Amino acid sequence: MHVLITGHTGFKGAWLTVLLHELGHTVSGLSLDPEPGALYEIAALKELVQQDHRVDIRDAARTADAIASAAPDAVVHLAAQPLVRRSYREPRFTYETNVMGTYNVLEASASVASVRAVVVATTDKVYRNVNRVAGYREDEALGGDDPYSSSKAMADLLTQSWAKSFPGAPIGIVRAGNVIGGGDVSADRLFVDLIEGFRRGTAVDIRYPDAVRPWQHVLDCLNGYVYVLRSLHDGAPSDAWNIGPDERSFITVREIADTMASQWSASAAWNDRSDAEHPYEAGLLALDASKAVNELGWSDLLAYPESLEWTVEWAKSVDRGLDARSVTTDQVRAFLSREIEARGA
Ligand SMILES: NC(=O)c1ccc[n+]([C@@H]2O[C@H](COP(=O)([O-])OP(=O)(O)OC[C@H]3O[C@@H](n4cnc5c(N)ncnc54)[C@H](O)[C@@H]3O)[C@@H](O)[C@H]2O)c1
Repeated sequence: MHVLITGHTGFKGAWLTVLLHELGHTVSGLSLDPEPGALYEIAALKELVQQDHRVDIRDAARTADAIASAAPDAVVHLAAQPLVRRSYREPRFTYETNVMGTYNVLEASASVASVRAVVVATTDKVYRNVNRVAGYREDEALGGDDPYSSSKAMADLLTQSWAKSFPGAPIGIVRAGNVIGGGDVSADRLFVDLIEGFRRGTAVDIRYPDAVRPWQHVLDCLNGYVYVLRSLHDGAPSDAWNIGPDERSFITVREIADTMASQWSASAAWNDRSDAEHPYEAGLLALDASKAVNELGWSDLLAYPESLEWTVEWAKSVDRGLDARSVTTDQVRAFLSREIEARGA
């Protein structure tokens, strides 16, 4: 299959490029330039990509031209402004990218005859958070209080409406939560900030140490996206899917920080800053992923704490001077071996 990934220069996009490549698929991409030090750059992933389009998805005409020029079999739409705190600082860019950018990608994909399946990544934050512990199911109400969450809920509703209003290639909406893995460079993500602090030898401030979050390795999340993509390509209809970890991976920020510090070195440390004032962020929001487990046969292969060990190991290996492409590819291969062991896939 030839898959065009929007957001291929970002964290998930880079891992998905390697994963699809290892699965024998052809990959093209459409994104902004990578952030400095991004996995896409340090692992020279451009070499794995057939067409590498640097296009702003807010530009409908250029987005349509790029997708038409690649003529892929499938589109996986990851491009977004995905950070809650940045969404308060740059709400217009966030809404334009996440909402109208999604519209432009859907419209462009629909106009290219070769496209037989589209996957759109939203997030667990699209659900209206009623502060309950039980996981949210796919048919529950959407909402979102901060600009990021509401922009993704809008993108999700827009995609559902598009799939119903303009029949064409089936569209799978995939909703996942926080993911961890080697090579993320986004500011304001806990494990990225922690590893940067450990590297510098400075203790990182943590805002919500007692918040419980679901933690999933990026490869488990992307593997779920690939399951959805395959099912659509094989003829499944448009639908929404939760791709989240089970309760074994619902862990406090405090425990994550302590475990990572101990895995890093004897001197690694962090600061509890729960007393300071911070912008609003939603409390625990868990996904009920039983639909994907029962109907697609997908499940997590790397539960906590292994998800964390692979993340720390990735960073330590690259710090020791190992090549980022090899470290990433080795982890993808080890993951795919588990997939074969677990499911005979
Ligand atoms: N990382 C997580 O923990 C997480 C959790 C839930 C959902 N998601 C979703 O997964 C997707 C990928 O997230 P990520 O962590 O890889 O983010 P990232 O910030 O690492 O990458 C974002 C990608 O989108 C591209 N992009 C941003 N604005 C663009 C624009 N206007 N035009 C074209 N490209 C643009 C960037 O160039 C980059 O390639 C997003 O849709 C995000 O909302 C991520």
